[in-house]
Amino acid sequence: MKVSASFLSSKNIPEDLTKLNNTDVDYIHVDIMDGKFVPNKTMPFREMRHIYEYTSKRLDVHLMVEDPSKYIPLYAELNTEYITIHVEIDEDILKDLELIKSYSIKCGLAISPDTKVNELIPYLPYLDYVLVMSVYPGKGGQEFILETEEKIKEVKALLNSYNIKAVVSVDGGINDITKDKCKEADILVAGSYIIKSDNFQEKISSLR
Ligand code: DX5
Ligand code: ZN
Repeated sequence: MKVSASFLSSKNIPEDLTKLNNTDVDYIHVDIMDGKFVPNKTMPFREMRHIYEYTSKRLDVHLMVEDPSKYIPLYAELNTEYITIHVEIDEDILKDLELIKSYSIKCGLAISPDTKVNELIPYLPYLDYVLVMSVYPGKGGQEFILETEEKIKEVKALLNSYNIKAVVSVDGGINDITKDKCKEADILVAGSYIIKSDNFQEKISSLR
């Protein structure tokens, strides 16, 4: 199992990113919120871009924003492996996925807990990544929604039935207990479970 670490709940981002850089974590999960798609807002790109000073890990960028076309060119500048947008937004999703790909970056779609898996169908041929939200997007430290176990299976079945090789990640409330509900996923995104501990590597290893 791959692990992507979210620093959304960090109180000291330079320090925590430096500590994560000394672990074998696979990706740094960058949560971006605009105060519109979700009520909270994260720092602007001019501040966020400095994360490259503290990490050499590849980034897994999760855009919880209404208008990703404004953010994609910015985050494409960083050491980015995946850019993920939400399937629930009003912006032209195909155009956004094509914009991500125009930078040779892998593209993903995230689905919130109340969204049906078949909303992904029109975009399947374009997808490298599907991010299944196991909490309502908007903040760290929430409890894993148990129905996610079934949702992951549905996503896997859908991808298989269309012969799509996209990787599946699960984001929200992941810890050493809830990981057992995500056995079919390829990547686990964990925030507070890692960041609020005093041994990052031990927590990361416990999720693999
Ligand atoms: C929630 C974010 C998650 C969150 C994960 O809106 O997308 O990435 O930071 O944090 P934990 O693991 O604390 O739920
Ligand atoms: Zn996230």
